[in-house]
Amino acid sequence: MALWSGRFTENVSEFTQRFGASLPVDKALYAQDIAGSKAHAAMLAKAGVIAQADADAIAGGLGRVQERIEAGEFAFDINDEDIHMSVERALIADVGDAGARLHTGRSRNDQVATDTRLFAKQRCSDLMAANVALRQALVKQAEAHPDVIMPGYTHLQHAQPVLFAHHMLAYVWMLARDFGRLAAARRAADASPLGAAALAGTTYPLDRQMTAESLGFSRVIPNSLDAVSDRDFLLDLSYACSVSCMHLSRLCEEIVLWSTAEFDFIGLSDAFSTGSSIMPQKKNPDFAELIRGKTGRVVGDLVALLVTMKALPLAYNKDLQEDKEGAIDAAKTLEDCLVCAAGMIETMAVKPESMRAQAKKGYLAATDVADYLAKKGMPFRRAHEVVGHLVLLCEQRGCDLDDLALADFQAESDLFEADITSALDLDAIVAARTTEGGTGYAAVAEQLALAKQVLADD
Ligand code: ARG
Repeated sequence: MALWSGRFTENVSEFTQRFGASLPVDKALYAQDIAGSKAHAAMLAKAGVIAQADADAIAGGLGRVQERIEAGEFAFDINDEDIHMSVERALIADVGDAGARLHTGRSRNDQVATDTRLFAKQRCSDLMAANVALRQALVKQAEAHPDVIMPGYTHLQHAQPVLFAHHMLAYVWMLARDFGRLAAARRAADASPLGAAALAGTTYPLDRQMTAESLGFSRVIPNSLDAVSDRDFLLDLSYACSVSCMHLSRLCEEIVLWSTAEFDFIGLSDAFSTGSSIMPQKKNPDFAELIRGKTGRVVGDLVALLVTMKALPLAYNKDLQEDKEGAIDAAKTLEDCLVCAAGMIETMAVKPESMRAQAKKGYLAATDVADYLAKKGMPFRRAHEVVGHLVLLCEQRGCDLDDLALADFQAESDLFEADITSALDLDAIVAARTTEGGTGYAAVAEQLALAKQVLADD
């Protein structure tokens, strides 16, 4: 018999019972559900709605339910539909009438919103910690290789030389923004719906500030209809997870590319690679690929919830029961991806010689040669054309710009002098990029210090 069986004469079928149940998903929220119930019961007693002895019995009974769940001794029954009814039924079985007083002035509508917000807050904090760990791994790689030069790309074509540390730090900043989005999602979840009851508030003298405070919420949601029907905080969490996963997917795409024979920029540790069942020589970057792939499901979780929310009238609708599975999955998936990526980055071997060898190909000095002429007074657009001719000459000869003789340069412009060699040297090219935020050694050192400062504050 359902706990609401009073007005019913017939039970739902076994199929609809199963179809309508959320227990398989929301049992993950048992600790939040019990904490919410304890806070509600203590507040009911303080407000004189139930006796203190009943509140004490409820607290004791809820503690025992929690122990049984955590010991794996709690027999979940799908007929209870969700975690709220499961806990309440077990409580009543244990402490009797006191337990049957717990739901006074409360509905599952404000109860589920409370549990989910508590859960979301916790998951945001977990993800923020995992985000920090990955940033630390990237910073360590940047610090360990301060002089390594690699080709920088646009359109995946060689563009200008950059420091490997600069490239690593680009991901650190992406992740720093992800941290901010997770913190914002946590702030969105950090408001208490408890006391909104089914939709309109209650006739009991509930102290919403008291339950909010005892559950660690920083504020109370001001409108009871909004309190039971708002799931923006889960959208915020799912969006934060999606963007962060997208960033990890970009990082992993580069790891996959860099570990090919064609690039050979890095070697993944065996612990983050797999072999082939048929090709004995293979070492595959499976985990980087998997993180890239998992991004699809996290974005799917976000889209599913957005579409579920669209056009829902106020206030609670059963559609809202669909909110948790995707958000729980998005958070779990991102957490696993962050942990995996941190291990992979920490243990990857950087190959400075291969990076430098590639940075010598593809006329990476071209912009600097044009700048050389522009700094001697030639209009930049004209200098661009001159260097274009020199690149064409290199293409015809099958050589690079630094293989050309001074006479070759001077045949294109008499502004070229012997010091053109400095515009052709990889280290000098990198060092010359002194702009704040640029790839010059000093600028990257400053950036690294800033990234570490932000990390220390997060
Ligand atoms: N299992 C429900 C959910 O996850 C709990 C709230 C149910 N409320 C109701 N009136 N049916 O949303």
